[in-house]
Amino acid sequence: MPTVHIEDVHRHEGETVTLRGWLYNRRSSGKLHFLQVRDGSGVIQAVMFKGDVDEAMFDAARRLPQESSIIVTGTVKRDERSPLGYELGIQTLEVLQEAEEYPISPKEHGVAFLMENRHLWMRSRRQHAILRIRAEIIAATRDFLDGEGYLLVDAPIFTPAACEGTTTLFETQYFSRMAYLTQSGQLYNEAAAMAFGRVYCFGPTFRAEKSKTRRHLTEFWMVEPEAAFLELDGIMDLAERMVRSIVERVLERRQSELRLLERDIAPLERCTEPFPRVDYADAVAQLQSLGSDIQYGDDFGADDETILTQQYDTPILVHRYPRDIKAFYMKGDPERPDRALCVDMLAPEGYGEIIGGGQREDDYQTLHDAIAAHDLPLEAFSWYLDLRRYGSVPHGGFGMGIERAVAWICGLHHVRETIPFPRMLDRIIP
Ligand code: 4AD
Ligand code: MG
Repeated sequence: MPTVHIEDVHRHEGETVTLRGWLYNRRSSGKLHFLQVRDGSGVIQAVMFKGDVDEAMFDAARRLPQESSIIVTGTVKRDERSPLGYELGIQTLEVLQEAEEYPISPKEHGVAFLMENRHLWMRSRRQHAILRIRAEIIAATRDFLDGEGYLLVDAPIFTPAACEGTTTLFETQYFSRMAYLTQSGQLYNEAAAMAFGRVYCFGPTFRAEKSKTRRHLTEFWMVEPEAAFLELDGIMDLAERMVRSIVERVLERRQSELRLLERDIAPLERCTEPFPRVDYADAVAQLQSLGSDIQYGDDFGADDETILTQQYDTPILVHRYPRDIKAFYMKGDPERPDRALCVDMLAPEGYGEIIGGGQREDDYQTLHDAIAAHDLPLEAFSWYLDLRRYGSVPHGGFGMGIERAVAWICGLHHVRETIPFPRMLDRIIP
C-alpha cells in the first residue's frame, strides 16, 4: 500500500494508505478514538474503532500523548464535514516514539512562553499558515522579478562598511580585523546593476535595533531590486507592480491560510487599485491635521506611520523625504535641494513602512562629499565610488522587508511570528 502525504490523500479515496506523522490531538468516546494526525502537509482525522484493532492497540491509542510520532495505515474515506474533505479509517497504528508530556496544549499560552518554545510552536496550524504565506510571498517576489528581467546576484553578508547608518551595525571579528554584518545589499547591488543592468539580491540583513517594537527584528530578510537608468517614478512603478503581484498571488493560492488567520481580505483585494503617491510635505500636513506633532523636516515616528496608514486601504508611496533624515547615498531632488529622490511604501491599516528605496547619487564628487559629511571612512567606500568613475548612470532601487510584508498580508500585530526563528533585542534562543 502506498505511503502518502496528507495533502495528497484526495487522490486515494477508497484505498488503503500509510501516513507518517505526529499525533496532533485526540478525542475518545467509548468505542472510538478520533486521532488528529498531522504530517506537515496537513491534518487528517483518523478514526479507530475498537472492533477493528486489537485491544492493546486500542488501549495504547487512548493513552498516547500529543506529538507522539506515529505511522498509521487505513482506508481513505470521503468526509464532507472535515476541513480536508477526507478521513482515515485506521487499520493499524505504530508508535515510533511516545512523546513526553507536550508543553504546548490547545489552551491559551502567553507569548513569552510560546517564543521560548518556538521550535515546537512552529508545529501549530496558525504558524503553518503564516510560514506558508511567507514562502508564497518569497516565491511570488522572485517570480515577479525574474519575470521582469531582473537577475539574482547575491550580496555578501560580511561587509567592511555601513550602508544604513553606523548606529545599528553588528560588529564581528574577521580574522585580524573587524567586519560588520550587512544592513543591506544595496551597495553591492549597485555594482551588479552597472554590470548586468537589472539585478536583485535576496538574503538576511542585520541591524542592532536597540528598541523593542512590533516592527523591528535584528535579523530580517530583504529583497532588493536595483536597476541602471531607473529613476524615481520608475522605482515607484516597480515597487507598486511588485507588491500588487505578491498580494494577488497570495489571494489566489493561500485562501485557506488567510481564512485560518481570520484575515479580512477586503483591503488586500483593493490592492488592484492604484497606490496613492504622497509628497512628504503633504504627508506631514495630513499627519498634523490628524493630531500628530510632527514638524516639516522630521522623520515619521512609528505612531505617525500607524495613524497615517490607517487612513488608507491600499499601500501608499510617500516620496521625497528630507535629505537630512536619509542615508548618505541618496540623490538630492534638483527641484528641492533639501529633499531626496526617495520613496517609502507604507502598508495600509496601520502597518507602515514595508519598502524603502530611491535614486542613488550618481555624481562622483557629490557622493564623495556626502560620505565625508556623514563621517564614513572614505577608504572603505573607494570601490563604491569607482562606480561613479567608470560609466556612472542614473540608477536606483528599493528594499522590501519580507517580515513586514508578511505581517501586513497576514494581518499580524507583531513581526515576531513572521519568521521561523525571530532574533530580537531580548531573544536569540531557540
Ligand atoms: O528602509 P531601509 O533601511 O532601506 C534600505 O536598507 C535600502 N538600502 C534598501 C534599498 O534601497 N536597496 O530598509 C528596507 C526595508 C524597510 O522598508 C523594512 O521593510 C525593512 O527593510 N526593515 C526591517 N524589517 C524588520 N526589522 C528591521 N529592523 C528592519 N529594518 C528595515
Ligand atoms: Mg526605511
